Amino acid sequence: MNYKRHTVTAALPYANGPVHIGHLAGCYLPADIYVRYLRSKGEDVKFICGSDEHGVPITIKAKKEGITPQQVVDKYHKIMGDAFKEFGISFDIYSRTSSKTHHETASEFFKTLYDKGVFEEEITEQYFDEKANQFLADRYIVGTCPKCGNENAYGDQCENCGSTLNATDLINPKSTLSGEKPVLKKTKNWFLPLDKMQPQIEAYIDSHKDWKANVYGQCKSWLNAGLQPRAMTRDLDWGVKVPVDGAEGKVLYVWFDAPIGYISATKDLFEPGERRKENGEAMWEKYWKDKETKLVHFIGKDNIVFHCIIFPAMLMAEGSYILPENVPANEFLNLEGNKISTSRNWAVWLHEYLLEFKDKQDVLRYTLCANAPETKDNDFTWKDFQAKNNNELVAILGNFVNRTLVLTHKYYDGVVPVAEEYNKNDILLLEEITKYPAKIAASIEQYRFREALAELMNLARSGNKYLADNEPWKIAGTDANRVKTIMNIALQICANLTIVMEPFLPFTSNKLTTMLNLNEGLKWNDATRTDLLLAGHKINTASLLFEKVEDEQITFQVNKLSNSKMENELANNKSEVQGQKPEITFDDFSKMDIRVGTILEAERVPKTDKLLKLKIDTGIDIRTVVSGIAQYYKPEDIIGQQVSILVNLAPRMLKNIESRGMILCSENEKGELSFVSPIKTGTNNGAIIK
Ligand code: 2FM
Ligand code: ZN
Repeated sequence: MNYKRHTVTAALPYANGPVHIGHLAGCYLPADIYVRYLRSKGEDVKFICGSDEHGVPITIKAKKEGITPQQVVDKYHKIMGDAFKEFGISFDIYSRTSSKTHHETASEFFKTLYDKGVFEEEITEQYFDEKANQFLADRYIVGTCPKCGNENAYGDQCENCGSTLNATDLINPKSTLSGEKPVLKKTKNWFLPLDKMQPQIEAYIDSHKDWKANVYGQCKSWLNAGLQPRAMTRDLDWGVKVPVDGAEGKVLYVWFDAPIGYISATKDLFEPGERRKENGEAMWEKYWKDKETKLVHFIGKDNIVFHCIIFPAMLMAEGSYILPENVPANEFLNLEGNKISTSRNWAVWLHEYLLEFKDKQDVLRYTLCANAPETKDNDFTWKDFQAKNNNELVAILGNFVNRTLVLTHKYYDGVVPVAEEYNKNDILLLEEITKYPAKIAASIEQYRFREALAELMNLARSGNKYLADNEPWKIAGTDANRVKTIMNIALQICANLTIVMEPFLPFTSNKLTTMLNLNEGLKWNDATRTDLLLAGHKINTASLLFEKVEDEQITFQVNKLSNSKMENELANNKSEVQGQKPEITFDDFSKMDIRVGTILEAERVPKTDKLLKLKIDTGIDIRTVVSGIAQYYKPEDIIGQQVSILVNLAPRMLKNIESRGMILCSENEKGELSFVSPIKTGTNNGAIIK
């Protein structure tokens, strides 16, 4: 079916931290590529997003930062919105769920279901933390997942196996507020009877066998396990108040209100048009209620159940809404072989990337798309980032465009030459070029963005090969007419590239459009033309589209990550007994310079529980070392003590302090550290340990 318009959403991120590459690769970049493509096709599309400002992730962050939940969301809503904008994520609106429109919309939605008698009102026993004097919902409670044994599953979801859970399903539950074992206490909540709705939901999912295999497969496995009623309210104080009598001190479940956030954001987009009627109908409604609208949700895999089962069930129960037509969910992106983690600072933060790779948004967009976790988890490595930039963007796309533009300036003062006469190969190439837009479009429409990007690069490759095969620079003095034809064709390919690259590399597309002095209003279908640049048209000065990323830049990034790892290891003192490490030679061992040193000064590193800053007399010099021993030694107790110190370890920045060396410690089975000793009394500082 052809649709009249499109509503495209990207998961509302929790406003509890800055944006990293995992967010971008997970849903914002693919959604942006999809939407930019639709716009270029001339489709009517609205791209909706905003901050998810409710739920326990926000209140936990507020507690950690010692500020109010409102302050948390105000701070991160701005940071996140700015980061998306800087990376060209072209939302039509980036709204927020603490807005008045959202509170009203979510409230009304709940009230409609309530009035229709959809909910089951039930008094159940829920976990309660007596110390903190509050009910424990969702992320306020952790325990062992009954399905996979993960010991850190949350009260509503296990991030390891993806199961949706109820807090009471957890084995050995523990409050994340006090660490205490919670007690059960009776409370009233409103449940969505997913069990009763199963046949409807099953029919809906079964009508979407075209969904990505990872998405359809997950849905089927939940359905096969049998859906359970799910509470849509929580005994918490941060969120949208439950709008019915007898619900004091309760708010809507964050996964009830967040997806409604897409609807309220759409209303905000048309504000004040939301209330302005067009043909007697509110504008936003067309994007949510008209059957000729295609609704697509871009999300990460941990959100599948909420978008494919719970939200559609809510929409079905309400009755006046369309249902999601597709939910293209990506798997996870790892970083250098490890899961991205905000708390362990194992991430590439967008705002830091921009400081270190100024104006190189498209390089990151390219790498993340080329490596997108579309069908399985994937890894981002800095080496691969460098290779993608240097061997693909610079060597293929950049090189082709640069050669074409430089030669046009050299031979024709920047004026597009006329194509004199096409030979057989020219005609074949021109035919090939005209096929690319359809190929790229087909991949995008099937949410295969990696494949689409590869096709885009193939177009640049064809251009490069054409120049290499025809070598205009060799015949410039002998066959002027032939050179004109070759250069005209190469220029047309550049012009076509500006159009088909735009969804993926919008900044580069803009730059090339300016360099070619091309009409900015070109649309996707124009890319099938081979006469976008007419003979006589003057192009602008050329500059490089991409620059090489040097080894030092990559080493800097890799070191930054290994510093994070070291800070974490210091802070966490891992205590598992590990197997023997790979064998080394005596020469390897003797590379380590371990000495006796005396602690001269010791103080806690501010804002950490685990680190001490030590001043050590190593016999060679007096230096600063940061050590993760604060839980085991009081600063005043260790002054004057002799310790063993590895002095030739490369310096590292830990919490902004340069640490030069490492104190050797042993670790017991509880993970507690103690200095490696004894050292015979009277041993000189600087004595070698071997
Ligand atoms: O996982 C998350 O970050 C959620 N805040 C996503 C919500 S998506 C939608 F439902 F709003
Ligand atoms: Zn699990």
